[in-house]
Amino acid sequence: MAEPRGCLFRIEALDVRHRRERFASGVDALDRYLASRAGQDTKRGFASVFVAVEIASERVCAFYTLSMAGVAVDLLPERLQRKMPRYPSVPAVRLGRLAVAVTDKGRGLGKWLLMDAMTRSLASEVAWAAFVVDVRDETARSFYLQYSFLALADDPLHLFLPRATVDAAFGTDSGSKRP
Ligand SMILES: CC(C)(COP(=O)(O)OP(=O)(O)OC[C@H]1O[C@@H](n2cnc3c(N)ncnc32)[C@H](O)[C@@H]1OP(=O)(O)O)[C@@H](O)C(=O)NCCC(=O)NCCS
Repeated sequence: MAEPRGCLFRIEALDVRHRRERFASGVDALDRYLASRAGQDTKRGFASVFVAVEIASERVCAFYTLSMAGVAVDLLPERLQRKMPRYPSVPAVRLGRLAVAVTDKGRGLGKWLLMDAMTRSLASEVAWAAFVVDVRDETARSFYLQYSFLALADDPLHLFLPRATVDAAFGTDSGSKRP
């Protein structure tokens, strides 16, 4: 995935070297999570945490989390349910959190991290059929809607993309490799 134009960042898995105590996205809960819980979640297998680091300063500028999840089939739109096997839930990847530092908003980092999360998910050998995200509010919701996310039936803030949509966007076709 190409870096945002004119920026010098890298994305990598969170580790103890990352200076994240001063990360400020404007959303306290997200900042506290990165400073005090993200490391534990990583160690315990609850989330994979990735950070965007500004190379010149080694400052953490943005982060996101990924976990495996399940979505009840009856929360999907009916037209998709008809195409699903008769299992109660659909295997999914969850983008649990995504935040960009206030000082770095509007530089393409949010979009880059979202695309990076999808790229890593597509590269995973663990099967998934939906990419889900639970958004905080209407402002965050509008960010995801521009990338064709759809709402699950239980809550307009629970969004998802079918695997086929992600495959089409990235030119991958998981189905053709399977029996
Ligand atoms: C939402 C957030 C991740 C966006 O990050 P960002 O780095 O500022 O966004 P980008 O610069 O990558 O913007 C990419 C595109 O989205 C658009 N965009 C950014 N925020 C948007 C919003 N809230 N609604 C609609 N579009 C938005 C940009 O205009 C840009 O459009 P373009 O590609 O046509 O130029 C960031 O504002 C943030 O961290 N917010 C606080 C935490 C949060 O709400 N996280 C999300 C849910 S947990």
